[in-house]
Amino acid sequence: MKGEASTSGEPGAPPADGFIPLCVPEIRGNEWKYVKECLDTNWVSSVGSFVDRFERDLAARVGAQHAVAVVNGTAALHVALLVAGVRPDDEVLVSTLTFIAPANAIRYVGAWPVFVDAEPDYWQMDPQKAVDFLERGCRWANGELRNRVTQRRVTAIIPVHILGHPVDMDPILAVARKYGLSVIEDATESLGAQYKGRCAGRIGDIGCFSFNGNKLITTGGGGMLVTDNAAWAQRAKYLTTQAKDNPVEFVHGAIGFNYRLTNVQAAMGCAQLELIDEYIAAKRRIAATYAEALHAVPGLTPLCEAPWAFSIYWMSGVLVDERQYGMESRDLLRRLEAAKIQARPLWQPGHLSPVHRGAPATDCTVAEQLQQQALSLPSSVGLTESQQLRVLRAVLTVGADARRAGTSCKA
Ligand SMILES: Cc1ncc(COP(=O)(O)O)c(C=O)c1O
Repeated sequence: MKGEASTSGEPGAPPADGFIPLCVPEIRGNEWKYVKECLDTNWVSSVGSFVDRFERDLAARVGAQHAVAVVNGTAALHVALLVAGVRPDDEVLVSTLTFIAPANAIRYVGAWPVFVDAEPDYWQMDPQKAVDFLERGCRWANGELRNRVTQRRVTAIIPVHILGHPVDMDPILAVARKYGLSVIEDATESLGAQYKGRCAGRIGDIGCFSFNGNKLITTGGGGMLVTDNAAWAQRAKYLTTQAKDNPVEFVHGAIGFNYRLTNVQAAMGCAQLELIDEYIAAKRRIAATYAEALHAVPGLTPLCEAPWAFSIYWMSGVLVDERQYGMESRDLLRRLEAAKIQARPLWQPGHLSPVHRGAPATDCTVAEQLQQQALSLPSSVGLTESQQLRVLRAVLTVGADARRAGTSCKA
């Protein structure tokens, strides 16, 4: 039903009249042309020149030697863990304050997540807490690092660059090198972001991207894995194409997956990638406008960029301090919803998720507080000035009214 889809605010759904969605795709380049080329030539499935080109172009964009296109970001994480050699019953450190996909991918390979808190300034994995866990919570014996409590082997770390901003990677890389851990970057939300001049996804051993409908660039659904390790890239390609040893005789050398991106999706990806710099500039402009208008509002703290970071501001985030702003984040969320403006809280932290109950975790109090206070505001590449003005007016008015009401109640 048309009306239902248009008001859902789901990634990729067209917005209803007057509704300002959180984050929807921007399609204004060569998408039609390239997709038509696939249809005209009958190259619509999981091989074709656009798949190869999308892999090549994305590898070049982030500075990686190899890229393997897959059906989505979750599949990229799953395969990254497999090629990095993570085994059943291993433990893998992962950010607690993120979407559930990386923690689930750890379970797909039979390993266990260890949830690491966020730092309060940029909301990313706290590198110090990761290091403390590995140095104090684990012991090194016989060439292996084991969790002192569970006795399980720790073999990898997944720093997740959330909301378009990179994690502070140096301390994580140093401790990973010390103990021989693989670093798998979840850069699904941060294509184009940089850490000290290096692209997110290219800092560790392997990087994963998503082209879901709400991401910076989209293929409807899609993902990519990048690495400089030729053997890993080859293995990833093999596993994502059903591990065919002999495609004519249907001989398979491993349990593979049907994870390849189609040529039609890749065609869209190629067109989207051509405009990525414009999209990033738009996201940064939107974030700067929010920051300028909101940082003077009592109780609001817009998410900003670390001195060592280049953020793509995939989402513009803001912290809401109830005591100063006049109402809590979820009340503001509801007030915005009533004004046909879609905002969203962050995710339930992984260590609180019922599906990962009992998983080891560092102290995660910062992530819990961020989850209570943070909201993402409308951040589509195509957000117009007048739409953003409407969002800002709503946020300013709702807070001012709440503070006035609070004051008059107290008086
Ligand atoms: C941090 C994070 N990791 C992984 C994913 C999974 O990507 P996909 O939806 O393409 O499977 C997403 C979002 O969709 C995400 O936000």
